[in-house]
Amino acid sequence: MSQPATPHRPSAAYRYLFVGVLGLVVGLIATVMVSRAIQARQDPFPDALMHVMNRQVQLLQDAQAQNRCTLADSVPRLQTLRSLSNDVDLAFPGLKDSQGFQQHASALRATLNQALAAPPTDCVGMGQLVEKIQNDCKACHQDFR
Ligand code: HEC
Repeated sequence: MSQPATPHRPSAAYRYLFVGVLGLVVGLIATVMVSRAIQARQDPFPDALMHVMNRQVQLLQDAQAQNRCTLADSVPRLQTLRSLSNDVDLAFPGLKDSQGFQQHASALRATLNQALAAPPTDCVGMGQLVEKIQNDCKACHQDFR
């Protein structure tokens, strides 16, 4: 005579494992939710502005490195940078009343004004200009970032 089949009971070890994994998953979801909520409270504008400016400088640098140094390569980037540089006050309302911040922002705008008035006509000039722009960026970051 065969014995009646005993119902398949998971062992205690499996139950602990299951609860452990469940805890990890719930913890992970909670972490993602909390970090999303924190992110949502921050204004994305300042970082976005800086990242777009950064890309424009990078594109200038890439063009120069590839020997593409005509006005068509540089002027659109310089115009975009010049327009964006008007918005640093808007992006950093907490810093805009600082005199140093204004000086750095103004120095960047002056560099871009000069560059637009007399855009570089060769790659040597374009290389120098990229370096000058990057120095203006760095000067503000050293004091305010
Ligand atoms: C007048 C001041 C000022 C000037 C000029 C300036 N920045 Fe910034 N930048 C800041 C500040 C302040 C931060 C820090 C922002 C933050 O942490 O929220 C920053 C942060 C950044 C970041 C990091 C953003 C991030 O997500 O953490 C990049 C990239 C950047 N700047 C690029 C540039 C480039 C490229 C230029 C020049 C074309 C430039 N910045 C000019 C003030 C300036």
